[in-house]
Amino acid sequence: MARKIAVAGALVAGLAGSASAWDDGPVPEPEPIGTMSELMIKLMYPASDAILYVESRAPTNEVEWNELQAQALLLAESANLIMMPSRVVGDRDEWMRDARLMFDAGAAAYEAALEQDLDALIALNEQVYMSCVVCHRRTRPDYGKNYKRFDDPPAEALPPGEEASSAGEHRAP
Ligand code: HEC
Repeated sequence: MARKIAVAGALVAGLAGSASAWDDGPVPEPEPIGTMSELMIKLMYPASDAILYVESRAPTNEVEWNELQAQALLLAESANLIMMPSRVVGDRDEWMRDARLMFDAGAAAYEAALEQDLDALIALNEQVYMSCVVCHRRTRPDYGKNYKRFDDPPAEALPPGEEASSAGEHRAP
C-alpha cells in the first residue's frame, strides 16, 4: 500500500527555517496514516483489552495505573480518529453514532482509571465491549459468521505471549 506521509516535505520546510514557508502553504488537515484495520488491531484492540481484562490484570502501583489511564485515554481518543471524515465507512450518521459509543465508554473508563476505581472499571466492561460490537454488527458483513477470522487480529499482530480468542481468555469484540 502506498503511504502518503509528508515527512520528507516537513523536514525540508523545517530546515528552510522560515515561518513564511508554512504560512504560504495550504493549511494542514488531519490525514490518515493507518488503515482502519491497523487502527483496530494496533490501537483499539489492545486499549480495550486493558479495560476488558482489568480484573485479572489489576494495576498494583502508580506506574501500572498510569499505563491503564493511557490505554483508556487511547480508547476514547481512537473514537475521534475514526470520526475523521475520510475514515467514515457507510452511512455517516450511523458511523458517528457508533463511534460515539466507543468515545463514551472510553471516556468513562479514563475517568475511572484516573480515580483508580477498579470496581467502576469492571462495571464498564459490558459498555466497552458493546461499543465495539454495535459497529461491527453493522459494518462488517461477515461478522459472526466467521468468528475467528473476523474477530481476532492475526496472531502476528498480538504482543508476544498473547494469543487470540482460541486461547480462551480473549473474547475479542
Ligand atoms: C464505528 C465503527 C467501529 C467501532 C466503534 C469499532 N470498530 Fe472495529 N472494525 C470496524 C470496521 C469497519 C472494521 C473492518 C476493517 C477492515 O477490515 O477494513 C473493523 C475491524 C476490527 C478488527 C479486525 C481487524 C482485522 O483486519 O483483522 C478488530 C480486531 C476490531 N475491529 C476491534 C475493535 C475493537 C476492540 C473495538 C472497540 C473497542 C472496535 N473494533 C470498535 C469498525 C468499528
